Amino acid sequence: MRKPLVVGNWKMNNTLQESLSLIEGLLSNSLPAERDYVVCPPYTGLSLAGKLIKETKIQLGAQNMHFEAKGAYTGEISPLMLKELNVRYVIIGHSERRQFFGETDLKVSKKTLAALNNDLIPIMCVGESLAQREGGFHHKIIKKQLVQGLKLVDSSKASDVVVAYEPVWAIGTGRTATNEQANDMLGFIRTVLTELYGSSISERIRILYGGSVNPSNIDGLMKQPEIDGVLVGGASLKSEEFLKIMTYSDRG
Ligand code: PGA
Repeated sequence: MRKPLVVGNWKMNNTLQESLSLIEGLLSNSLPAERDYVVCPPYTGLSLAGKLIKETKIQLGAQNMHFEAKGAYTGEISPLMLKELNVRYVIIGHSERRQFFGETDLKVSKKTLAALNNDLIPIMCVGESLAQREGGFHHKIIKKQLVQGLKLVDSSKASDVVVAYEPVWAIGTGRTATNEQANDMLGFIRTVLTELYGSSISERIRILYGGSVNPSNIDGLMKQPEIDGVLVGGASLKSEEFLKIMTYSDRG
């Protein structure tokens, strides 16, 4: 069985003071066992957040990293630096990185491999634009992003990868994919992963949905058989909202 995973991506939000109150809020309630919880602050908040969540059920994630261990890459952060701060997860190839910072499938692949080589769990993001979905190319685009993003990852490490499907048209727009659209695409993603690595590995890879996840749609999404968890942006910035998402109901 794949362990459900709830990830909060804070993006470029939260001063240290805001991070402190948000995490205190998240720690004020007990969380269901048998689920993984991750918060991904900006780099400047990692150290503080790591201290606050130490020995709790919440784990630390980063939003990006470089693939080299060190060197002349002004402004970049390496896997080793993240590990020093007890980071466990790292988001790779978020659509905002692809759109605004020139992240290519090749870079995504190098970063995904570098994360695995450094015992970090990569959350590799894929997603189509609205034009691609309306043109009927969404499966083709997702397959290309998966095949190219995982190009350097062989089967010995593939089961540690987490894939996040985030349709660009659903991110920050309030327009969530329907449960059926999300479930269908995640099923398709697992088929592609099976083609790449065989079914015993693909059955172990967790696949998340992301894009306008909120307290009202979480229960419906998490009841879909293909959805192993969620990657949450806006609704992870308020502790009451993110708590409701982390404590979603899987009954009924
Ligand atoms: P959103 O962002 O929940 O605000 O739509 C999701 C994401 O970009 O990871």
